[in-house]
Amino acid sequence: MIPVILSGGSGTRLWPLSRAKKPKQFLPLLNDKSMLQNTVLRLKGLANLQQPIVICNEDHRFMVAEQFRELGQGTPTILLEPQGRNTAPAIAVAALQALQVDTDPVLLVLAADHAIKDIPAFHQAIEQALPAAEAGKLVTFGIVPTSAHTGYGYIKQGKSLTESLSSNVFTVQAFQEKPDAVTAQKFVDGGNYFWNSGMFMFKASAFLAELRQFSPDILQAVEQALALAKTDLDFIRLDNEAFSASPSNSIDYAVMEKSANAVMVSLDAGWSDVGSWDSLWQVMAKDEAGNACRGDVMLEQCRNSYINAEERLVTVIGLDDVIVVETKDAVLVANKAHIQGVKNIVSKLQSYG
Ligand code: GDD
Ligand code: MG
Repeated sequence: MIPVILSGGSGTRLWPLSRAKKPKQFLPLLNDKSMLQNTVLRLKGLANLQQPIVICNEDHRFMVAEQFRELGQGTPTILLEPQGRNTAPAIAVAALQALQVDTDPVLLVLAADHAIKDIPAFHQAIEQALPAAEAGKLVTFGIVPTSAHTGYGYIKQGKSLTESLSSNVFTVQAFQEKPDAVTAQKFVDGGNYFWNSGMFMFKASAFLAELRQFSPDILQAVEQALALAKTDLDFIRLDNEAFSASPSNSIDYAVMEKSANAVMVSLDAGWSDVGSWDSLWQVMAKDEAGNACRGDVMLEQCRNSYINAEERLVTVIGLDDVIVVETKDAVLVANKAHIQGVKNIVSKLQSYG
């Protein structure tokens, strides 16, 4: 099994800590290891693991290599994108690369920026998914939802395939990417919908066959980008012109929504994609007043807050439900209930250049 680690996101909603030069997957947000390093470490103990394939933007290549060196668990294959074209081309190029080193391996596609609390439950789900992946299915891991989150895709669970495959495998009745709040609430109330985790398992050939059917233009572009790729130190640099010619699309829209081969394995493991400061606060260890702090922080009479001090001592008195993130050149102070406003701040800053 080859882990394919998608490490191309920009993590803008975790501004001001997450920046273009060092987005969230490279930051030690959960503990003293980065999100990328945690992604690798939480695989420890799984059987038949091969070295991962990491796919990231070329600007981040030295950070990826350095973070793997720190782990001391061998060297991954690092594929470099000249620019992000979303997850479908990224996974496709990793699948083509995997076929060059092995005869049709099973790929475990993971995002570099997720948090998972219950590692044994995660491993169990992977083991349950394996027979289905080996049988040519495209497995998606469905998360038991805990709220009507509108930043996630939803999977409607179909009938059980436990008898023919392994336990906890279901057909997928429908995929619905990022519904509005009313629809999301209906899904959660209905009980037979799961969050799409954005983690997948399939044989390289099974994924590429579906891509050939549903998005042949992506496949053609990435085949060309890999054929013309240049090896540069330990990196494989995809051809700029060929890769940029690929349509930009997610695996969800390009393949999973359309495939008749999609199945779901459910996962209840304290998973989060850590998409905002609020969701980071939710997964972090907290003191008895519900505060999660990082760095040099002093609090008086505060509750349910997240305080992150990078450079200076940060003190907060008498505030509840706040997010404070202090960095060298920018400070964010926000009401937790309004934290989605960070994306407006970031787009204003981007428009100022
Ligand atoms: N290498 C590479 N290149 N990685 C990418 C690219 C790219 O162009 N685009 C995204 N990624 C990585 C991100 O780093 C992230 O880890 C993962 O792929 C998912 O991309 P997002 O952009 O964060 O997707 P999303 O959050 O909007 O939605 C997806 O994930 C949700 C769960 O976190 C969808 O799969 C949803 O259905 C799902 O619920
Ligand atoms: Mg995401």
